[in-house]
Amino acid sequence: MSIGIDQACVQILDGPCTNMWTYGGTYPGLTIRRPTGQTTNVTFSNNLDPAVGALTVHNHGNHSSPENDGRPNEFLIGTGESRTYTYTGLEDGVNERGTMHFYHDHLMDVTGRNVWMGLAGLYIIDDPADPATLPSGAFDLPLAIADRQFDANNQTPYVFDPDGVTGDKILINGVYQPYFDVGDRKYRLRILNASNARIYNLTLSTGDSFIQIGTESGLLPAPVTRTEMRMGPAERLDVVVDFAGRLAQDVYLTDTLTGMQLLQFRVTQHLVDDSTIPPTLRSLPDIGEPTVTRTWDFDKTAGHWTINGLRFDPNRVDARPVLGTTEKWIFTNPTGRPHTVHIHDVAQQCLSRNGGPCYPYETMKETWYLDPSETLEVKLKFTDHIGMYMLHCHMIEHEDDGMMTQFEVIAPRAAPTPRPRPTPLPRPTP
Ligand code: C2O
Ligand code: CU
Repeated sequence: MSIGIDQACVQILDGPCTNMWTYGGTYPGLTIRRPTGQTTNVTFSNNLDPAVGALTVHNHGNHSSPENDGRPNEFLIGTGESRTYTYTGLEDGVNERGTMHFYHDHLMDVTGRNVWMGLAGLYIIDDPADPATLPSGAFDLPLAIADRQFDANNQTPYVFDPDGVTGDKILINGVYQPYFDVGDRKYRLRILNASNARIYNLTLSTGDSFIQIGTESGLLPAPVTRTEMRMGPAERLDVVVDFAGRLAQDVYLTDTLTGMQLLQFRVTQHLVDDSTIPPTLRSLPDIGEPTVTRTWDFDKTAGHWTINGLRFDPNRVDARPVLGTTEKWIFTNPTGRPHTVHIHDVAQQCLSRNGGPCYPYETMKETWYLDPSETLEVKLKFTDHIGMYMLHCHMIEHEDDGMMTQFEVIAPRAAPTPRPRPTPLPRPTP
């Protein structure tokens, strides 16, 4: 498929439309939805004003080879150019797990600006190995949450602030204060925090629970019941909400940190509910035990956001894990601000949080919430692709300010080949 990266004037608020940079003329961009295990080629064309410069598209959460990963400083899409990204839908010899990824621009130094201007869209992988009884079709709703600051003309000029750019209006799928007509039955909500830097704490106005069934990296081993869900930038929550018994009521998805009602569900019709949530969902893949340990401090150094004291430098590689091996990575946060740790290439499994157990809803992810003073241990196995991948904070202004680094997956050293032994020559007897 082909997606033009075009400037478009998008009607968001009453009054003037908002000039945005879009994937396919809409915000969020066109949703790509594919069965797992099928190769998908997406050609993006950079039709934006030359002043915007080159672009690069990262399929966040996907297991892509480096050339298809939307690297920040190479394999770029110059103005007027196109680039085709190939996603195989495979991981470690099997189909990628079903989940909702998202794709967004990742250009070095200006990712925050490019995403704020609109360059983000959803990428859903459907997996026939996942239970078919979960709510589906019209009862499966992707919800991208993003805040924006509008000026008097309804425009969203971007002003970089290393602490994070936020806005006072919160959009769901690009709509301000939306409502949705629903029936009194279960719905699956696939929630993405598509904001540059804002954190949400989601609840339902009724006090009802969410049943969390998945994360960025597919279904959980078993559902987890939660009444509130904190969510940092780029995290995803795959949840089921049951509106049974709420006929003729309004239920709001609420953010307790701002006190705002983000989305209104109007329960307007009675529907028979044929969906169920199985008590077990999907076991974790066995990725073995770690043989190497690395520590990454998400820090602030000399007034900038850093990892292990250093700002991003495209000419520096901070780790060279070996293809086919499993490593333990430890993340610390000595700063007074939360960060969301995102690792490209492969999903990670949680080993411990603050020396104790992980939250039951963070068994496997690729974007991790890290509060001040927290320590998180994960393990990850490098499969399929060698080459360069990113590791960074997904509060995008922290990333642009320097809280990003890269690692290179390298091929295992070939086993030493036995040298041919020269046939001993008979020596003259003295
Ligand atoms: Cu969604 Cu490297 O980012
Ligand atoms: Cu950060």
